[in-house]
Amino acid sequence: MRETIEKIQQRKMTGEKIAMLTAYDYPSAKLVDEAGVPIILVGDSLGMVVLGYDSTIPVTMEEMLHHIKAVVRGSKRAMVVGDLPFMSYQASIADAMRNSARFLQEGGCQAVKLEGGERVAETVRALVTTGIPVMGHIGLTPQSVNQLSGFRLQGKTPKAAVQLLNDARALAEAGAFAIVLESIPAPLAKVITERVPIPTIGIGAGPYCDGQVQVFHDVMGLCTELAPKHAKQYAHLADVMRDAAAQYIREVQTAAFPTARESYGMDRKVAEQLGQLV
Ligand code: KIV
Repeated sequence: MRETIEKIQQRKMTGEKIAMLTAYDYPSAKLVDEAGVPIILVGDSLGMVVLGYDSTIPVTMEEMLHHIKAVVRGSKRAMVVGDLPFMSYQASIADAMRNSARFLQEGGCQAVKLEGGERVAETVRALVTTGIPVMGHIGLTPQSVNQLSGFRLQGKTPKAAVQLLNDARALAEAGAFAIVLESIPAPLAKVITERVPIPTIGIGAGPYCDGQVQVFHDVMGLCTELAPKHAKQYAHLADVMRDAAAQYIREVQTAAFPTARESYGMDRKVAEQLGQLV
């Protein structure tokens, strides 16, 4: 049985922090699921960390579905949340319904995430009423990177902070089951967390949120580019993997690999006849 909305929301009451991680494929989903993460986000960040785009804007529905299916196959216990890509929900509620339904029906995930506050509240309400669980996402919303003039801290002015609080309230009222707060000052995340009845899940939003989300490649040290300030590396896998690849190349070049241990033998008589057979 996968993690439920009920259990996730109870954690806000009990104060048990929620750890969410992204994953984009079968092996990474299997690892984080076995580690016990309650929510796996198949983020559209996959465009940047897996597909090499310089923003999340080019990511398509087909790309998201391809990765969601692999993550669902790789996990058993976590709730899998699929990130609706740019322009899959903004133009109309009908688009949002159709594309969210594809995530659940074809992808097999349990919930969708979309970016925006008050302006997407009606869309969230329509999805939730239809039975599609929705996670909100406010603050730095990467699909608006051009409008925001870059990946920058949000909610710094009183006006912007009040707008974010109103956005969070609108999402909660519309029925979202949780909200990602990305790149906002920690004191603002604290106020939002105290004032909304649903869990807040922070990334670059400080310690007062009900939970935290991190990108798999940042946590594992798999990114070769500079990681953002809010990311913490718990391992340095890029170094481990580069070293492993270099050692493999050396061993092939020096004929140290493969040895008899990595080779398959053959019946001696058949082997002796081989020269006549071929
Ligand atoms: O796409 C993503 O990975 C996200 C998280 C950073 C919240 O939206």
